[in-house]
Amino acid sequence: MPTQPRNSRPAPWWRSAVIYQVYIRSFADGNGDGIGDIAGLRARLAHLADLGVDALWINPWYPSPMKDAGYDVSDFRAIEPLFGTLEDAQAMIVDAHELGLRVLLDIVPNHVSDQHAWFQEALAAAPGSRERARFIFRDGCGPEGAQPPNDWRSTFGGAAWTRVTDGDGHPGQWYLHLFAPEQPDVNWTNPEVREEFDQTMRFWFEMGVDGFRIDVAHGLAKAEGLPDIGALAWPPVDAEPVDHPHWDRDDVHEIYRGWRALADAYDDPRVFVAEAWVHNPDRLALYIRGDELHTAFNFDFLLSPWLAEPMRDSIVASLEAHEGVGAPPTWVLSNHDTVREVSRYARPQGVRELRHLDDLLDLPADFAIVEKRARAAALLMLALLGCAYVYQGEELGLAEVEDLPEELLQDPGWKQSGHTLRGRDGCRVPIPWSGEEPPFGFSTNGAAPWLPQPRSWQTLTVDAQTGDERSMLELYRRALRIRREHPALGDGAMRWIDAPDGALAFAREPGFTCVVNMSADPVPAPPGAELVLSSGELTADGAVPADTAAWFGTPGAA
Ligand code: NOJ
Ligand code: CA
Repeated sequence: MPTQPRNSRPAPWWRSAVIYQVYIRSFADGNGDGIGDIAGLRARLAHLADLGVDALWINPWYPSPMKDAGYDVSDFRAIEPLFGTLEDAQAMIVDAHELGLRVLLDIVPNHVSDQHAWFQEALAAAPGSRERARFIFRDGCGPEGAQPPNDWRSTFGGAAWTRVTDGDGHPGQWYLHLFAPEQPDVNWTNPEVREEFDQTMRFWFEMGVDGFRIDVAHGLAKAEGLPDIGALAWPPVDAEPVDHPHWDRDDVHEIYRGWRALADAYDDPRVFVAEAWVHNPDRLALYIRGDELHTAFNFDFLLSPWLAEPMRDSIVASLEAHEGVGAPPTWVLSNHDTVREVSRYARPQGVRELRHLDDLLDLPADFAIVEKRARAAALLMLALLGCAYVYQGEELGLAEVEDLPEELLQDPGWKQSGHTLRGRDGCRVPIPWSGEEPPFGFSTNGAAPWLPQPRSWQTLTVDAQTGDERSMLELYRRALRIRREHPALGDGAMRWIDAPDGALAFAREPGFTCVVNMSADPVPAPPGAELVLSSGELTADGAVPADTAAWFGTPGAA
């Protein structure tokens, strides 16, 4: 082990953590209604400890009418009855901590549910009132205010404005919703809003929660006067970031400086990870300056195709940007909003924008190679410096469920796009635990899960993979164990080493090399190195074959 420099403190846990994303409604169902819940999660915490992750991030579990799977929150300081109670949540946090797992929640500061008490009060109040000032209400344009106040579009399709009906039955003002109409945006220029979210964070921090993932962290600040977007594209198509009226505005940073101070006030400081879809790694780095958030998801890496050059460019750009602000990068291959990487990498084309992720499903897929690629991607991600996120089911090698019947689709994007975008349900199907047929142990009593699971998942259950050395699950378990034990891995530095076209290779000290082959020809192992772990078998002469990643060690170094 390298010795710690004298007087130095050990690096904080969040600089090298592997965090498991629990999409709670699809993780494990403890009460047999086909929907995942806290009891199910509690009962399965051992799986996460066994996997070897450091923390979990739980998607919103607050009371919600579920118009956007819980991202429409009606009360931030309570638990959705479908998922359990506050006592269940408290007990789960205690259990997780006993197992050495930190717990991050999801905070949704850009919008609330239209059923939130604040919005109901705003609807009942007059234009210009204190109640309406917590949201973004405006008069409409044109004769009788019949047109929306500006040209902003909802992320899920259609106008970002909905007109309310006044108490006398006449059409009234319009309110802004960058997402579904049931998700009104709150007004972050209003001090009352700030105070409310501070109180919410304190509430959970005092319950022992270790931090928050911040939903739509790039959306809170809106340009004064709410100007039209016009022809501005988002994400920007030009090299230079654009002055967008509601995404990634500089005013958001002052909000996060306040949050950082709040989190730092605890003896065991709490942490944040930003969900910020921004133009480039330099813009992302602004969110994680020393006095702002700790980490931010690195979507640039997620969007990169399975090709060495763009993948390396993306990693280099992220490393440089993060180094500039001294924050650890946070690598992520998938989440509940994106097409699972197994299915992405089955398509040779890359995706550069979130909206293209949906189009990807229309492209022909070659599933013969994908399992290999997803395995190799996992070793690449876990060898890079900084933090990594594992989205539930990723450790099982699950693919996107592409053939969910249309009548079962629940993502608001399906309806709001006029049934043209299938949305995100395909990556949200409840995960398989055991048994030969659905629900594969997801529900305690065999109830049908809220989205149907493919029968082919029979071979991908946690039980089926456990003990099978060739399985994805065992690969993750081994990789995570090595990552914890190897002094070169986690936080720190890395150095690129020469690799043939189509391959990536980097070294980390002491004595660790990662080689990822994205080309068709085998890539020789580094001279004198010993194999530590590989995502597939090496060739007879020890080279790394196509679509394979391998970790090597220098004998005696680690
Ligand atoms: C990002 C979340 O990850 C997504 O699921 C949600 O629909 C939007 N933010 C709106 O809250
Ligand atoms: Ca349940």
